[in-house]
Amino acid sequence: MEARRQCHRVSPLLLVLLAVVITAGRCGAQVPVPARTDGFVYGGQAWAPAWGEAVVVEAFFDPLCPDSRDAWPPLRRAADHFGARRVAVVVHLFPLPYHSSSFIACRSIHAVHKLNASAAYPLLEKFFKYQEGYYNTPTYTKTRAAVVAKIANNLVAPVIGEANLAAYRAGFNDSRSDQAARISFKFGCARGVTGTPYYFVNGIPLVDLDFPLDYDKWVSTLDPLVGKM
Ligand SMILES: *[C@@H]1O[C@H](CO)[C@@H](O)[C@H](O)[C@H]1NC(C)=O
Ligand SMILES: *[C@@H]1O[C@H](CO)[C@@H](O)[C@H](O)[C@H]1NC(C)=O
Repeated sequence: MEARRQCHRVSPLLLVLLAVVITAGRCGAQVPVPARTDGFVYGGQAWAPAWGEAVVVEAFFDPLCPDSRDAWPPLRRAADHFGARRVAVVVHLFPLPYHSSSFIACRSIHAVHKLNASAAYPLLEKFFKYQEGYYNTPTYTKTRAAVVAKIANNLVAPVIGEANLAAYRAGFNDSRSDQAARISFKFGCARGVTGTPYYFVNGIPLVDLDFPLDYDKWVSTLDPLVGKM
C-alpha cells in the first residue's frame, strides 16, 4: 500500500517534539486566542457560512509543500463544483519546520491578505506554481533578506501590483503578520495537524481515505453530506 502522500515523511522527529512540548506544558502555555478564527475562505467572501449552513472543508497547506501544491487543484475544482453555499472551503497555512522558507511564505500571504483579502488565494497559487525556487536546496546559500526580496518581487508584485509593494513590505515587517503566521501554526498544532495537506470536514479529521484525494474522491466524499442538508 502506498504511504499517505503528505509532507510529513520526516515527521517522527516532529511528533516527538510535539509530544515533549505538550507533556512539558507547551512552551508558553495558553495559545493566544486570535481576534478572528484563522483561515482564508475560498471564493471571495470574507467569512465562512455560519455553522450548520454548509459543509465546511478545512485544508491545512504549506505553500512550499509539493503535496499541498498537488492537492489544491482537485479540492479547488470540487469547491467550484459545489459552490460556496453548499461547501465552504477554508485554507489554513501550516508552515512546516523542515521547509526552511515556509514561515516567510506564510507571513507573506498573511501580509498580502491584510492589504487585499482577495489576493490571498492568487498568492498561494503563485507559491504553489513557483515553490521549487524556494525549497531548502536552492535557498541554502541565500540570506533570509534575499529570500524575502525574491518573494516580494517575483511572487507578490505580480499579484498586488508594484504600486502596493511598499505597503506590502511594511506589512510583512509588521509584527502582526508575524503573529498571524504563528497563530496559523499553533492553530494546526492545537488540532493535531502533523503534516500537509491535512483536512477536516465539518471538524472531523480525514485520516482513513486514500491519499492523495483527487477530484472524484472529493465529490464522492462530499456529495452524501451535501445531499443531507
Ligand atoms: C485585490 O486583489 C484582486 C486579486 O488579485 C484584484 O483583482 C483586485 O483588483 C485587488 N483589489 C484592489 C483594491 O487592489
Ligand atoms: C524590514 O525590516 C528589515 C530588517 O529589520 C529592514 O532592513 C527593512 O528596511 C525593513 N523594511 C521596511 C519596508 O520597513
